[in-house]
Amino acid sequence: MTTSFIIAIDGPAAAGKGTLSRLIAAHYGFHHLDTGLTYRAVAKALLDAGLPLDDETVAERTSLDIELAGLDRSVLAQHQIGEAASKIAVMPAVRRALVAAQRKFAARAPGTVLDGRDIGTVVCPDAPVKLYVTASPDVRARRRYDEIIGGGAAADFDAVFADVKKRDERDMGRADSPLKPADDAHLLDTSEMSIDAAFQAACELIDAALKKD
Ligand code: CDP
Repeated sequence: MTTSFIIAIDGPAAAGKGTLSRLIAAHYGFHHLDTGLTYRAVAKALLDAGLPLDDETVAERTSLDIELAGLDRSVLAQHQIGEAASKIAVMPAVRRALVAAQRKFAARAPGTVLDGRDIGTVVCPDAPVKLYVTASPDVRARRRYDEIIGGGAAADFDAVFADVKKRDERDMGRADSPLKPADDAHLLDTSEMSIDAAFQAACELIDAALKKD
């Protein structure tokens, strides 16, 4: 029995789940963990130390040392780190180590919001609220492109689109914890929805679940 109310949010790259998760956590006063950052932190530690990205034992050891408290998207945002993260995320030993840390975080009172790829299916299968946030690949690539341009960097839309598709294939095609909606997840397609409309829709589902709790 846990004293924490858990909100599980999954979805593909650039679907808007990060922004949505932060809004929800702030609104309900819950702790938020972007689990993508845990995979990115392992990738960065390996890259910084000049260690290989294809040695599961080395990657597992690094995963066991990751501190959730210090995770910061601004230092983990680099494209190269994201690419490396999606490679080490296929390793079962890495996932085992990070999922254990994520579950510990999920149990914090009074409630938590975890976002990622496998929260509703693997990390917190008993969460009372599960959202699967998605949008068409074209819309997601456009958002990612605008984000990069907005940050002052150069980008090529076709390359960003190809990258979104490649990331989807890797996330949905891996054997261990592939990206897919949990059977009891609520689907939220944000292709034609503002972030505010998505937030309102999510709050209705969460309020209803909180009443039952
Ligand atoms: O850059 P993007 O938003 O696509 O990804 P992210 O959320 O920062 O996560 C980086 C990588 O970690 C992704 O490509 C996923 O493959 C992986 N990941 C995962 O396997 N499971 C999670 N719960 C979260 C992220």
